[in-house]
Amino acid sequence: MPHNILHRRYRLGGVTTDYLGDAAALDRLAGRLGRRPAVAVVDRAVARLHGGRLAAVLRDGGGAPLPRLVVPGGEAAKTVANLERVWRWLAARGLPRDGVVVGVGGGAVLDLAGFAAATWQRGVAFAAVPTTLLAAVDAGLGGKTAVDLGALKNPVGAFHPAGCVLVEPALLGTLTRRDWRCGLAETVKAAVIGSPSLFRDLEARAPDLAGLLARGRADRPVPGALDLPWASWIDGAVRVKGRLVSADFREAGPRRALNLGHTLGHALELQLGLAHGEAVALGLAAAARLAASRGTCPRRDADRIVALLAACGLAVTAAAPPRRATAALVAGDKKVRGGEVRWVLPLRIGAVDIDARVGLDDMLAALAG
Ligand SMILES: NC(=O)c1ccc[n+]([C@@H]2O[C@H](COP(=O)([O-])OP(=O)(O)OC[C@H]3O[C@@H](n4cnc5c(N)ncnc54)[C@H](O)[C@@H]3O)[C@@H](O)[C@H]2O)c1
Ligand SMILES: [Zn+2]
Repeated sequence: MPHNILHRRYRLGGVTTDYLGDAAALDRLAGRLGRRPAVAVVDRAVARLHGGRLAAVLRDGGGAPLPRLVVPGGEAAKTVANLERVWRWLAARGLPRDGVVVGVGGGAVLDLAGFAAATWQRGVAFAAVPTTLLAAVDAGLGGKTAVDLGALKNPVGAFHPAGCVLVEPALLGTLTRRDWRCGLAETVKAAVIGSPSLFRDLEARAPDLAGLLARGRADRPVPGALDLPWASWIDGAVRVKGRLVSADFREAGPRRALNLGHTLGHALELQLGLAHGEAVALGLAAAARLAASRGTCPRRDADRIVALLAACGLAVTAAAPPRRATAALVAGDKKVRGGEVRWVLPLRIGAVDIDARVGLDDMLAALAG
C-alpha cells in the first residue's frame, strides 16, 4: 500500500489539530508529548493484536512507557461505568492539569477517552490514535466526544478536539470485514457530501472492494485489504470532514452535512441492533433514493451511491422498523430544530441539502427500496 505522508492541520474551537497519517505516524507520538505527563487508554483488541507496535511507540518524550489502561472496544465501551473507571484510574495516576490522555482504538474508545480528557481536571489535552477505518475517517477528527446513557446514544458529551490525530494504516490490517464495511459507509458518506473525486476513486475500485468485502464472513479479517489505497481515501474523507468542522465547529450550520444518513441511521442502529456504519449505509441509501424520487438529486447519482455501498458489502435496503418507535427515536435525535426534524439529502454526488423537510413515511418507504 502507498505510504505517502498525509498531514493536515485544522483549527477547531481554538485548538490546533494536526492530522498525520503514514506508515510511521506513531513514531511521532513521543515527540508530540514532549515533557508533559501522559497516559494511554487503549482498546483491548488493539492491545492484543498490536502489542509489539504499541510497546514501541506508547512512550513519553523521555522514552518512558506510558501508563496504560486497557478498556473493552466496541459500543459497550461507551458507558458511564467505564467513564468512571477511566476517571478513577486517572485519579490513581494523579494525571495533572497539563497532562495528556492518549486514546488508542476504534471510535468507541476514542469517544470514551476523549470525553474523559474533556472532563478530567476540567479538560486536559487529548491525542487520538484511530485504529479502525471509521475512526480514521470520522471519529478521530472533529472534537466530538461522548458516552451512551442506556439506550440513548451520545447524549452526554463535550466538544474537545485532539491536539493530534495519528493514523498508521497498517494497524487497520487486523480489522474484520464488518469493520471495513462500516468504515467505508462513512467514507462513501464523506464523498457524497463533498468530494466527487473521492467518489470516483472509490467507484473505480468497486470490483476490488466487492471481491474483498461483498461476500465472506463478517467477523474475520480480510487478507489483501491493505493493498487498496487507504491512505489516499482516508485523506479524501478527512479533507471533507476537516473543511466542515473547521468552518462550523459547534454544528450551527454547515457541519450538519455530516449527519447525512444518520438521522434515520441512529434510529435503525438502535432498533435493528446494527453497527454504526451499517446503519449509516442504510440511512444514506434511503436518503439517496428519496432525493431521486423527489427530483432533487439525479437518479443516476442516487443509483451510483447505492451501487457503491452495495459493492462494499453493505446492506442498502431493510424492512422498515415499527413506525411509532422510529418516529420517537428520530424526534429524540439531536438534529431536531424548532420542533421539526431536518434531514440531510444528497443534491448530487458532492453536494447536500442540510435543511430538507421530509415525511418519515416517505423516508421509511425509501428504506425498503
Ligand atoms: N466522535 C465522532 O465524531 C464520531 C464519529 C463517528 C462515529 N463515532 C462513534 O464511533 C463508534 C464506532 O466506531 P468504530 O466503527 O471504530 O467501532 P468500534 O470503536 O466499536 O470498534 C469496532 C471493533 O473493532 C475493534 N478494533 C479496533 N481497532 C482494531 C484493529 N486495528 N484491529 C482489529 N480490531 C480492532 C474494537 O475493539 C471493536 O471491537 C460509535 O460509537 C460512534 O458513535 C464518533
Ligand atoms: Zn457516523
